Amino acid sequence: MAKVGIIGIGFMGKMHFGVYKASDKAEVVAIADVDEKKLAGDWSAIAGNIGAPSAKNVDLTGISTYQDPEDLIADPNVEVIDVCTPPRSHARWVIAALDEGKSVICEKPIALSLEDAQKMIVAAEGSDGNLYIAHCIRFWPEYAAAKRIIDEGEYGKVNSATFRRVGATPTWGWQNWFLDPERSGGAIADLHIHDVDFINYVFGIPKAVFARGLVGAISRNGIDQIVAQYIYDDGPIVSAEGSWLCGKTAPFSMTFTIELEGATLDFSAGNPLTVYPKDGEAQVVDVGEGDGYSLEIEHFLDCIAAGKPSEIISPEDAAAALRVIEAEKESVRTGQVVEIG
Ligand SMILES: NC(=O)c1ccc[n+]([C@@H]2O[C@H](COP(=O)([O-])OP(=O)(O)OC[C@H]3O[C@@H](n4cnc5c(N)ncnc54)[C@H](O)[C@@H]3O)[C@@H](O)[C@H]2O)c1
Repeated sequence: MAKVGIIGIGFMGKMHFGVYKASDKAEVVAIADVDEKKLAGDWSAIAGNIGAPSAKNVDLTGISTYQDPEDLIADPNVEVIDVCTPPRSHARWVIAALDEGKSVICEKPIALSLEDAQKMIVAAEGSDGNLYIAHCIRFWPEYAAAKRIIDEGEYGKVNSATFRRVGATPTWGWQNWFLDPERSGGAIADLHIHDVDFINYVFGIPKAVFARGLVGAISRNGIDQIVAQYIYDDGPIVSAEGSWLCGKTAPFSMTFTIELEGATLDFSAGNPLTVYPKDGEAQVVDVGEGDGYSLEIEHFLDCIAAGKPSEIISPEDAAAALRVIEAEKESVRTGQVVEIG
């Protein structure tokens, strides 16, 4: 059983805590948060775009609590560090934990700058621990199944793919950090990066991007809505939209439609993942058991037990997603197609 310490008990920290509680591969032995109420078990202020309401009296018996993440990292009883704070602080805690020789699971985006991401990669290379970035969409059942169907090749090559991820303005974060682009990177780094990472995973890093975005519609000078095209030599036509400008009561929605030579693969309009062959009946895809967060963390725990990096998501992959969104930002700024170096 891996002994895990979680830094940041917000929407994602709570989600990860629940996954560890349900797993026989790990136990949470410590948590750290600046908020004393959370350390006392009152998690009622935690909210997000999916999931159940949070409890006021979480049982933290036997769990060490720290206000300063450095103290959690130094706790000899903690073997694995799980970083669930807003992204501007990821590099600081991740590097400190790797320098202690501990393995680290860290929420996406890996960081807000390529410089920080590179420092984290270097720290992981010099550590006895490994670094796992939680790009959960690679594990999300419908998305993982779509990649499997594409890779199996039964329906030929992909002609085009469209991804969409939209929801209400996130006003639930600690100190409203989502709406401060200095701390969140805006909708593009927070939400849209999920699809960017999946596009890289399935189709490879694009040669160039072209993007239009709404800047400062809600956040201070951040990109609140983006529509981007990913340009491949001889590859499919790929586009993605991300937005957090939907109305307060609009449900969070993540969808895609992938046109293959022999079939349409669709996960939209509230329907299960479905294959529509060019000839023949529609087939609902069996995406298997489990949810994306559990599948992701169980995979990381298996890697940690085996002392090896993840073959599904590397820190370099997470940095590549950041590189693509940096190019998208430049495209929004300049109105030009931007090559990805
Ligand atoms: N994979 C996903 O689907 C998904 C969904 C939501 C958020 N996230 C990611 O998870 C991370 C956290 O987001 P969230 O929605 O949980 O945010 P949140 O605002 O709900 O929680 C952040 C928590 O971190 C704590 N915190 C902040 N600074 C701290 C510090 N210096 N030391 C200790 N604690 C500190 C806050 O008190 C708060 O409890 C972000 O990187 C975000 O992008 C991922």
